[in-house]
Amino acid sequence: MAVLLKVEGLKKYFQVGQGLITARFGKSVRAVDDVSFEVQEGETLGLVGESGCGKSTTGRCINRLLEPTSGKVHFGDIDVRKLKGKKLKSYRRDVQFIFQDPYASLNPRMTFGEIMAEPLVIHGIGSRKEREDRAKEMLQTVGLSPEHIHRYPHEFSGGQRQRVGIARALMLRPKMIVCDEPVSALDVSIQAQIINLLEDLQGEFGLTYLFIAHDLAVIRHICDRVAVMYLGKIVELGGWKEVYNSPNHPYTQSLLSAAPVPDPDKQHHRARIILRGDVPSPIDPPAGCRFHTRCPIAQFPICKDVEPPLDQVAIGHRAACHFAKSFPIPESKM
Ligand SMILES: Nc1ncnc2c1ncn2[C@@H]1O[C@H](COP(=O)(O)OP(=O)(O)OP(=O)(O)O)[C@@H](O)[C@H]1O
Ligand code: SF4
Ligand SMILES: [Mg+2]
Repeated sequence: MAVLLKVEGLKKYFQVGQGLITARFGKSVRAVDDVSFEVQEGETLGLVGESGCGKSTTGRCINRLLEPTSGKVHFGDIDVRKLKGKKLKSYRRDVQFIFQDPYASLNPRMTFGEIMAEPLVIHGIGSRKEREDRAKEMLQTVGLSPEHIHRYPHEFSGGQRQRVGIARALMLRPKMIVCDEPVSALDVSIQAQIINLLEDLQGEFGLTYLFIAHDLAVIRHICDRVAVMYLGKIVELGGWKEVYNSPNHPYTQSLLSAAPVPDPDKQHHRARIILRGDVPSPIDPPAGCRFHTRCPIAQFPICKDVEPPLDQVAIGHRAACHFAKSFPIPESKM
Protein backbone atom coordinates (compact mmCIF):
# COMPACT_ATOMS: atom_id res chain seq x y z
CA MET A 1 0.00 0.00 0.00
CA ALA A 2 1.19 3.51 -0.79
CA VAL A 3 1.73 6.10 1.92
CA LEU A 4 -1.00 8.74 1.61
CA LEU A 5 -0.12 10.98 4.56
CA LYS A 6 3.33 11.46 6.01
CA VAL A 7 3.86 13.63 9.08
CA GLU A 8 7.43 14.29 10.19
CA GLY A 9 8.63 16.14 13.28
CA LEU A 10 5.34 18.06 13.56
CA LYS A 11 5.28 20.73 16.26
CA LYS A 12 2.53 23.12 17.24
CA TYR A 13 3.28 25.56 20.05
CA PHE A 14 0.66 28.09 21.12
CA GLN A 15 1.96 31.32 22.60
CA VAL A 16 0.07 32.04 25.80
CA GLY A 17 -0.52 35.12 27.93
CA GLN A 18 0.11 38.72 27.09
CA GLY A 19 1.71 39.46 30.47
CA LEU A 20 5.27 40.62 31.03
CA ILE A 21 6.47 37.33 32.47
CA THR A 22 5.12 35.04 29.73
CA ALA A 23 6.27 37.45 27.01
CA ARG A 24 9.73 37.69 28.52
CA PHE A 25 10.27 34.00 28.99
CA GLY A 26 8.49 33.05 25.78
CA LYS A 27 6.05 30.64 27.44
CA SER A 28 4.13 28.46 25.06
CA VAL A 29 1.80 25.47 25.18
CA ARG A 30 3.65 22.62 23.52
CA ALA A 31 0.46 21.01 22.26
CA VAL A 32 2.22 18.83 19.65
CA ASP A 33 5.91 18.32 20.13
CA ASP A 34 7.79 16.41 17.44
CA VAL A 35 5.23 13.94 16.18
CA SER A 36 5.92 11.64 13.19
CA PHE A 37 3.69 9.00 11.60
CA GLU A 38 2.44 7.74 8.26
CA VAL A 39 -1.03 6.72 7.10
CA GLN A 40 -1.27 4.25 4.23
CA GLU A 41 -3.88 4.61 1.53
CA GLY A 42 -7.14 2.89 2.58
CA GLU A 43 -6.12 2.25 6.19
CA THR A 44 -7.39 3.66 9.49
CA LEU A 45 -4.84 4.98 11.95
CA GLY A 46 -6.21 5.57 15.44
CA LEU A 47 -4.77 8.49 17.42
CA VAL A 48 -5.50 7.90 21.09
CA GLY A 49 -4.77 9.64 24.37
CA GLU A 50 -6.21 11.56 27.30
CA SER A 51 -7.86 14.95 26.98
CA GLY A 52 -5.37 17.70 26.12
CA CYS A 53 -2.59 15.45 24.78
CA GLY A 54 -2.66 17.15 21.36
CA LYS A 55 -4.85 14.88 19.21
CA SER A 56 -7.13 17.57 17.74
CA THR A 57 -4.22 19.96 17.26
CA THR A 58 -2.43 17.25 15.24
CA GLY A 59 -5.56 16.70 13.12
CA ARG A 60 -6.05 20.43 12.58
CA CYS A 61 -2.43 20.92 11.55
CA ILE A 62 -2.86 18.17 8.96
CA ASN A 63 -5.62 19.95 7.11
CA ARG A 64 -4.18 23.37 7.82
CA LEU A 65 -7.03 24.53 10.05
CA LEU A 66 -3.99 25.42 12.18
CA GLU A 67 -0.54 26.42 10.93
CA PRO A 68 2.14 24.10 12.35
CA THR A 69 5.07 25.69 14.19
CA SER A 70 7.48 23.35 12.39
CA GLY A 71 7.73 19.93 10.78
CA LYS A 72 6.60 18.41 7.52
CA VAL A 73 3.21 17.22 6.28
CA HIS A 74 3.07 15.43 2.94
CA PHE A 75 -0.12 14.20 1.28
CA GLY A 76 0.93 11.94 -1.58
CA ASP A 77 3.57 14.06 -3.28
CA ILE A 78 2.05 17.35 -2.09
CA ASP A 79 4.00 19.42 0.45
CA VAL A 80 0.97 20.56 2.45
CA ARG A 81 2.74 23.38 4.30
CA LYS A 82 3.58 25.12 1.03
CA LEU A 83 0.00 25.16 -0.28
CA LYS A 84 -1.74 28.47 -0.89
CA GLY A 85 -4.93 29.76 -2.56
CA LYS A 86 -6.57 27.37 -5.01
CA LYS A 87 -4.18 24.52 -4.27
CA LEU A 88 -4.91 24.73 -0.54
CA LYS A 89 -8.64 24.79 -1.30
CA SER A 90 -8.30 21.71 -3.48
CA TYR A 91 -6.29 19.92 -0.76
CA ARG A 92 -9.01 20.70 1.79
CA ARG A 93 -11.49 19.13 -0.60
CA ASP A 94 -9.48 15.91 -0.49
CA VAL A 95 -8.99 15.89 3.29
CA GLN A 96 -12.24 16.42 5.19
CA PHE A 97 -12.93 16.70 8.92
CA ILE A 98 -15.70 15.18 11.04
CA PHE A 99 -16.11 16.90 14.39
CA GLN A 100 -16.84 15.48 17.81
CA ASP A 101 -19.99 17.37 18.60
CA PRO A 102 -22.85 16.83 16.15
CA TYR A 103 -24.84 19.45 18.09
CA ALA A 104 -22.33 22.24 17.70
CA SER A 105 -20.91 21.43 14.26
CA LEU A 106 -24.17 21.82 12.29
CA ASN A 107 -25.64 25.30 11.78
CA PRO A 108 -29.07 25.18 13.52
CA ARG A 109 -30.54 27.73 11.09
CA MET A 110 -29.78 25.67 7.99
CA THR A 111 -31.73 22.68 6.67
CA PHE A 112 -29.86 19.40 6.23
CA GLY A 113 -30.02 20.01 2.46
CA GLU A 114 -28.33 23.43 2.85
CA ILE A 115 -25.77 22.07 5.31
CA MET A 116 -24.79 19.33 2.91
CA ALA A 117 -24.79 21.50 -0.20
CA GLU A 118 -22.58 24.14 1.45
CA PRO A 119 -19.19 22.47 0.68
CA LEU A 120 -20.24 22.19 -3.00
CA VAL A 121 -21.28 25.87 -3.01
CA ILE A 122 -17.92 26.88 -1.49
CA HIS A 123 -16.08 24.90 -4.16
CA GLY A 124 -18.43 26.09 -6.97
CA ILE A 125 -19.53 22.57 -7.85
CA GLY A 126 -22.80 21.70 -9.64
CA SER A 127 -26.10 23.47 -10.22
CA ARG A 128 -28.66 23.89 -7.42
CA LYS A 129 -30.51 20.81 -8.65
CA GLU A 130 -27.33 18.73 -8.89
CA ARG A 131 -26.32 19.74 -5.36
CA GLU A 132 -29.76 18.79 -4.04
CA ASP A 133 -29.62 15.45 -5.83
CA ARG A 134 -26.21 14.68 -4.39
CA ALA A 135 -27.39 15.67 -0.89
CA LYS A 136 -30.37 13.28 -1.20
CA GLU A 137 -28.15 10.50 -2.45
CA MET A 138 -25.67 11.02 0.42
CA LEU A 139 -28.43 11.07 3.03
CA GLN A 140 -29.52 7.67 1.75
CA THR A 141 -25.92 6.43 1.80
CA VAL A 142 -25.65 7.25 5.52
CA GLY A 143 -28.97 5.58 6.32
CA LEU A 144 -31.30 8.59 6.39
CA SER A 145 -34.29 9.44 4.18
CA PRO A 146 -33.73 11.77 1.19
CA GLU A 147 -36.81 13.69 2.41
CA HIS A 148 -34.75 14.88 5.39
CA ILE A 149 -33.09 17.55 3.27
CA HIS A 150 -35.89 19.93 4.30
CA ARG A 151 -35.51 19.30 8.02
CA TYR A 152 -33.45 21.15 10.65
CA PRO A 153 -30.78 19.71 13.03
CA HIS A 154 -32.90 20.25 16.18
CA GLU A 155 -35.49 17.80 14.83
CA PHE A 156 -33.01 14.92 15.03
CA SER A 157 -31.10 12.83 17.56
CA GLY A 158 -27.34 13.03 18.12
CA GLY A 159 -26.72 9.89 16.09
CA GLN A 160 -28.78 11.18 13.16
CA ARG A 161 -26.99 14.52 13.26
CA GLN A 162 -23.63 12.78 13.21
CA ARG A 163 -24.80 10.84 10.14
CA VAL A 164 -25.46 14.20 8.49
CA GLY A 165 -21.99 15.40 9.58
CA ILE A 166 -20.52 12.33 7.88
CA ALA A 167 -22.67 12.78 4.77
CA ARG A 168 -21.50 16.40 4.56
CA ALA A 169 -17.86 15.33 4.75
CA LEU A 170 -18.49 12.91 1.88
CA MET A 171 -20.15 15.45 -0.43
CA LEU A 172 -16.82 16.45 -1.96
CA ARG A 173 -15.71 12.83 -2.43
CA PRO A 174 -12.59 13.20 -0.26
CA LYS A 175 -9.65 10.79 -0.20
CA MET A 176 -9.10 11.07 3.53
CA ILE A 177 -11.19 12.03 6.56
CA VAL A 178 -9.85 13.19 9.92
CA CYS A 179 -12.50 11.89 12.32
CA ASP A 180 -12.06 13.90 15.52
CA GLU A 181 -13.84 11.87 18.23
CA PRO A 182 -16.94 11.44 16.05
CA VAL A 183 -18.73 9.19 18.54
CA SER A 184 -17.64 10.56 21.93
CA ALA A 185 -20.74 12.71 22.35
CA LEU A 186 -23.11 9.86 21.47
CA ASP A 187 -24.84 7.19 23.57
CA VAL A 188 -22.92 3.93 23.74
CA SER A 189 -25.68 2.12 21.80
CA ILE A 190 -25.37 4.62 18.93
CA GLN A 191 -21.54 4.67 18.91
CA ALA A 192 -21.30 1.19 17.35
CA GLN A 193 -23.79 2.11 14.61
CA ILE A 194 -21.75 5.16 13.60
CA ILE A 195 -18.47 3.23 13.70
CA ASN A 196 -20.05 0.52 11.50
CA LEU A 197 -21.29 3.18 9.12
CA LEU A 198 -17.81 4.73 8.87
CA GLU A 199 -16.37 1.27 8.20
CA ASP A 200 -18.91 0.57 5.43
CA LEU A 201 -18.26 3.95 3.83
CA GLN A 202 -14.53 3.32 3.91
CA GLY A 203 -15.07 0.19 1.80
CA GLU A 204 -17.52 1.89 -0.53
CA PHE A 205 -15.52 5.06 -1.19
CA GLY A 206 -11.96 3.78 -0.66
CA LEU A 207 -11.42 6.24 2.20
CA THR A 208 -8.41 6.65 4.46
CA TYR A 209 -9.11 7.66 8.08
CA LEU A 210 -7.17 9.32 10.86
CA PHE A 211 -9.46 8.37 13.73
CA ILE A 212 -9.03 10.38 16.92
CA ALA A 213 -10.36 8.95 20.19
CA HIS A 214 -9.56 9.06 23.89
CA ASP A 215 -10.75 5.52 24.49
CA LEU A 216 -8.89 2.56 23.01
CA ALA A 217 -11.97 0.33 23.24
CA VAL A 218 -14.02 2.56 20.94
CA ILE A 219 -11.63 2.21 18.02
CA ARG A 220 -10.55 -1.40 18.33
CA HIS A 221 -12.85 -2.61 15.53
CA ILE A 222 -12.09 0.12 13.04
CA CYS A 223 -8.33 0.70 13.32
CA ASP A 224 -5.58 -1.05 11.40
CA ARG A 225 -2.89 0.68 13.45
CA VAL A 226 -2.85 2.80 16.59
CA ALA A 227 -0.70 5.74 17.74
CA VAL A 228 -0.88 6.50 21.47
CA MET A 229 -0.19 10.11 22.47
CA TYR A 230 0.87 11.51 25.83
CA LEU A 231 1.50 15.20 26.45
CA GLY A 232 2.21 16.17 22.84
CA LYS A 233 4.25 13.09 21.88
CA ILE A 234 3.58 9.67 20.39
CA VAL A 235 4.63 7.08 22.97
CA GLU A 236 3.58 3.91 21.16
CA LEU A 237 2.75 3.13 17.54
CA GLY A 238 1.90 -0.18 15.92
CA GLY A 239 -0.63 -2.58 14.44
CA TRP A 240 -3.71 -2.65 16.66
CA LYS A 241 -3.32 -6.33 17.51
CA GLU A 242 0.26 -5.81 18.68
CA VAL A 243 -0.59 -2.68 20.66
CA TYR A 244 -3.71 -4.20 22.24
CA ASN A 245 -2.20 -7.59 22.99
CA SER A 246 1.38 -6.59 23.82
CA PRO A 247 1.44 -2.96 24.88
CA ASN A 248 5.05 -1.95 25.38
CA HIS A 249 4.57 1.44 27.00
CA PRO A 250 3.30 1.72 30.60
CA TYR A 251 0.94 4.51 29.51
CA THR A 252 -0.69 2.29 26.87
CA GLN A 253 -0.98 -0.42 29.51
CA SER A 254 -2.79 1.91 31.85
CA LEU A 255 -5.19 3.02 29.09
CA LEU A 256 -5.92 -0.60 28.23
CA SER A 257 -6.43 -1.53 31.86
CA ALA A 258 -9.16 1.13 32.05
CA ALA A 259 -10.96 -0.05 28.89
CA PRO A 260 -13.88 -2.44 29.38
CA VAL A 261 -13.35 -6.00 28.10
CA PRO A 262 -16.28 -7.85 26.46
CA ASP A 263 -15.59 -11.02 28.50
CA PRO A 264 -16.83 -10.36 32.11
CA ASP A 265 -14.52 -13.07 33.48
CA LYS A 266 -11.45 -11.41 31.98
CA GLN A 267 -12.71 -8.01 33.14
CA HIS A 268 -13.01 -9.33 36.70
CA HIS A 269 -9.45 -10.67 36.73
CA ARG A 270 -7.78 -7.75 35.05
CA ALA A 271 -5.81 -5.41 37.27
CA ARG A 272 -6.62 -1.75 36.78
CA ILE A 273 -3.49 0.41 36.63
CA ILE A 274 -4.32 3.70 38.32
CA LEU A 275 -1.88 6.47 37.43
CA ARG A 276 -0.82 8.80 40.18
CA GLY A 277 -1.29 12.54 39.89
CA ASP A 278 -2.64 14.61 37.03
CA VAL A 279 -1.34 15.10 33.53
CA PRO A 280 1.41 17.77 33.82
CA SER A 281 1.02 21.09 32.02
CA PRO A 282 2.12 21.17 28.36
CA ILE A 283 3.51 24.65 29.11
CA ASP A 284 6.27 23.16 31.18
CA PRO A 285 6.38 19.42 30.43
CA PRO A 286 8.60 17.17 32.57
CA ALA A 287 12.19 16.70 31.39
CA GLY A 288 13.43 13.32 30.20
CA CYS A 289 10.48 10.99 29.70
CA ARG A 290 7.35 13.15 29.93
CA PHE A 291 5.51 10.28 31.59
CA HIS A 292 8.01 9.90 34.45
CA THR A 293 5.92 11.86 36.99
CA ARG A 294 3.12 9.28 36.68
CA CYS A 295 4.87 6.14 35.51
CA PRO A 296 4.46 3.14 37.86
CA ILE A 297 7.84 1.68 36.80
CA ALA A 298 9.95 4.84 36.40
CA GLN A 299 13.66 4.40 37.18
CA PHE A 300 15.82 7.29 38.29
CA PRO A 301 17.81 9.14 37.21
CA ILE A 302 17.51 7.87 33.62
CA CYS A 303 13.75 8.45 33.19
CA LYS A 304 14.05 11.99 34.55
CA ASP A 305 17.15 12.92 32.55
CA VAL A 306 16.98 11.16 29.21
CA GLU A 307 14.11 11.35 26.73
CA PRO A 308 13.39 7.84 25.38
CA PRO A 309 13.26 7.66 21.57
CA LEU A 310 10.33 6.00 19.77
CA ASP A 311 12.30 2.81 19.11
CA GLN A 312 11.30 -0.36 17.33
CA VAL A 313 10.23 -3.16 19.70
CA ALA A 314 9.00 -5.50 16.95
CA ILE A 315 8.40 -5.19 13.22
CA GLY A 316 6.11 -2.22 12.69
CA HIS A 317 5.77 -1.65 16.46
CA ARG A 318 7.51 1.21 18.28
CA ALA A 319 7.52 2.43 21.86
CA ALA A 320 9.19 5.36 23.63
CA CYS A 321 10.30 3.80 26.92
CA HIS A 322 13.81 2.97 28.14
CA PHE A 323 12.47 -0.36 29.41
CA ALA A 324 10.03 -1.13 26.60
CA LYS A 325 11.19 -4.69 26.06
CA SER A 326 12.32 -5.50 29.56
CA PHE A 327 9.32 -5.35 31.87
CA PRO A 328 6.60 -7.99 32.21
CA ILE A 329 3.66 -7.20 30.01
CA PRO A 330 0.28 -7.76 31.68
CA GLU A 331 -2.44 -9.68 29.90
CA SER A 332 -4.66 -7.22 28.09
CA LYS A 333 -6.25 -9.22 25.30
CA MET A 334 -9.48 -7.61 24.15
N1 LIG B 1 -5.69 27.88 20.59
C1 LIG B 1 -5.04 27.40 21.65
N2 LIG B 1 -4.32 28.22 22.45
C2 LIG B 1 -3.64 27.75 23.52
N3 LIG B 1 -3.61 26.44 23.87
C3 LIG B 1 -4.31 25.59 23.10
C4 LIG B 1 -5.06 26.01 21.96
N4 LIG B 1 -5.65 24.91 21.39
C5 LIG B 1 -5.29 23.87 22.16
N5 LIG B 1 -4.49 24.27 23.17
C6 LIG B 1 -3.89 23.42 24.21
O1 LIG B 1 -3.11 22.45 23.54
C7 LIG B 1 -3.18 21.20 24.22
C8 LIG B 1 -3.68 20.14 23.26
O2 LIG B 1 -5.02 20.42 22.91
P1 LIG B 1 -5.88 19.50 21.96
O3 LIG B 1 -7.22 20.14 21.80
O4 LIG B 1 -5.11 19.20 20.74
O5 LIG B 1 -6.00 18.16 22.83
P2 LIG B 1 -6.89 16.87 22.58
O6 LIG B 1 -5.98 15.71 22.75
O7 LIG B 1 -7.65 16.98 21.32
O8 LIG B 1 -7.90 16.91 23.82
P3 LIG B 1 -9.46 16.48 23.92
O9 LIG B 1 -9.47 14.98 24.09
O10 LIG B 1 -9.92 17.19 25.15
O11 LIG B 1 -10.16 16.95 22.68
C9 LIG B 1 -4.09 21.43 25.42
O12 LIG B 1 -3.28 21.71 26.54
C10 LIG B 1 -4.89 22.65 25.02
O13 LIG B 1 -5.30 23.36 26.16
S1 SF4 C 1 11.03 5.77 30.10
FE1 SF4 C 1 10.85 5.49 32.31
S2 SF4 C 1 9.24 6.93 32.95
FE2 SF4 C 1 9.12 6.72 30.74
S3 SF4 C 1 7.60 5.17 30.42
FE3 SF4 C 1 9.57 4.13 30.44
S4 SF4 C 1 9.90 3.50 32.54
FE4 SF4 C 1 8.25 5.00 32.55
MG1 LIG D 1 -9.69 17.06 20.84
